[in-house]
Amino acid sequence: MTNWDICYFSDDGRVLTVLDQTQLPMVERYVQLRNSTEVADAIRRLVVRGAPLIGIAAAMGLCVAMVNGESFFEAKRIIGSSRPTAVNLSWALDRMESALKNFGIKSTDTYTSSSDVIIMLQTEALRIKEEDAETCRKIGQFGSRLITDGMGVLTHCNAGHLATGHYGTALAPIYSAAMDGKSFRVFADETRPLLQGARLTAYELTKHNIDTTLICDNMAASLMAAGRINIVFVGCDRVAANGDTANKIGTLGVAVLAKHFGVPFYVCGPLSTFDSHCSTGSDIIIEQRPGEEITTMHYAHPMAPEHVKTFNPAFDVTPHNLITGYITENGIHTTK
Ligand code: MRU
Repeated sequence: MTNWDICYFSDDGRVLTVLDQTQLPMVERYVQLRNSTEVADAIRRLVVRGAPLIGIAAAMGLCVAMVNGESFFEAKRIIGSSRPTAVNLSWALDRMESALKNFGIKSTDTYTSSSDVIIMLQTEALRIKEEDAETCRKIGQFGSRLITDGMGVLTHCNAGHLATGHYGTALAPIYSAAMDGKSFRVFADETRPLLQGARLTAYELTKHNIDTTLICDNMAASLMAAGRINIVFVGCDRVAANGDTANKIGTLGVAVLAKHFGVPFYVCGPLSTFDSHCSTGSDIIIEQRPGEEITTMHYAHPMAPEHVKTFNPAFDVTPHNLITGYITENGIHTTK
């Protein structure tokens, strides 16, 4: 790869172009979004996904919607209702609203979108994206100190370039350690049911020539038992005030295994993913997704009886006592 920019404005600001992650790894296709409904749909369908990139796309999508004549608050409402768990979505939209208020426009005002308001909002959206890129770089530098030659590193889902403004969160230490010339191996959980590990993490790491081995989600235990996984890095969608962390379904299982086998388990994320309004993980809303993602999607033929009941939460919550530490743009915060 190395088009690191997978979410950008057209020159006239009327179009947001994003890499369509539902088509990866077979097809690298970009899609164009022009209004809040299209942006919300792209987030909901995981065309654009990963907590930080959802926030970036939401802020930029809001600008595009306004350039095309939508009202700020209606577009914010529509985009904001697309997915519930990643706090970066509401965080980015609220930050855009603060920028609007600081510009002298009160939330109760009706106003015609003037070009200086639009330019100010576009600048703010691009600032969110640039800050996230810098955050990725810092997480990478801090996290890479934990990687030494010969290690096996496990990651779950995709918290890489495809999920952020640059190197990713959980994959940032991996990119950074590789750039430092360290020799290690990454194990990528395939991450059922939507296969973000197989389709996205394996795709981006192999493109960057990082030694990557794809495993099914039920194989991590045997690798840990054999001593072949020495550290785990995962991303996060929302971290509660007590450190409980929502991330892709299956993360909790990995954390339990890591605890059992004494493998350090690190959560990597920007401070924008930490939500002081949620006191514990039980306050975090977990998105439920359609059962077809389990029974049919990604199979050539349906792999389950047609009317079987399904349970398909997109995320789970890892309690803070299973987490060795958090890696943010401010450094490594260990819990022990
Ligand atoms: O449903 P997704 O693919 O958006 O879930 C993504 C994750 O769970 C990531 O680990 C998380 O958003 C962090 S991305 C840096």
